[in-house]
Amino acid sequence: MIGCPGSICKYFIYYVIVYLLSCFKLIRKSRTAIAGQLIKQIWSHSCYLSKNKGSCLKRPNDLVTSKKLLFMVSKSIQEALNKQVQMEAESSQAYLAMASWAEIQPGLEGVTNFFYQQSDEERVHMLKLLRFINERGGFGMVPALAQPIVTFKSIKNVFEEFLKHELKVSDSINELVHLSLSEKDYATHNFLQWYVNEQMEEERVARTLNDKLEMVGDDKGGLYLFDRDIMNYRGADGKK
Ligand code: FEO
Repeated sequence: MIGCPGSICKYFIYYVIVYLLSCFKLIRKSRTAIAGQLIKQIWSHSCYLSKNKGSCLKRPNDLVTSKKLLFMVSKSIQEALNKQVQMEAESSQAYLAMASWAEIQPGLEGVTNFFYQQSDEERVHMLKLLRFINERGGFGMVPALAQPIVTFKSIKNVFEEFLKHELKVSDSINELVHLSLSEKDYATHNFLQWYVNEQMEEERVARTLNDKLEMVGDDKGGLYLFDRDIMNYRGADGKK
């Protein structure tokens, strides 16, 4: 055996140990990274194969960044919020169709502007929901949309559809509030209060406008005034 002076031997053994330890650390790091990648691959593959696309709503990263799970919305709340995203998008489309129909009728500039603004507002409602879902660790899904009703028998018919639609939205918001309470999701419950107030206001406006049209009947002068004044029902900043 080749001898070595005591101090040189000590340094040699020290460097060998440090070298072995750093090799071990590197192996451990790359093993974790490979495992993470594998989990992601398996997740996206099973999600792709699944017929139930709802199972894809969970963000793949949540599997490897466990901290996100701490504040993630539940699957049922997420699905219900995404349904509401769809409903707000459908509302925006429905009112856009009403605006476009009104625009090609003679003398309905007020009604036209009212529904263009209403359509924009519904899009804002949709975005607010979509971003809330993402903020809470979920995945806000941009929905496919069916064509809304695009032609109407009369101006009265337009406003009847408007009220009918808003009542449907209110029912849906109430269901969501109920679900958030039953799941003790107080953050979502708190967030939804804005929509509760908004629906109360939209229902009030829709009812008022229907009442006015009932009063006007077939009177052309009354319809002229209705169209001229309709934007007054949208509050100070262009809102109701
Ligand atoms: Fe956002 Fe009027 O529903």
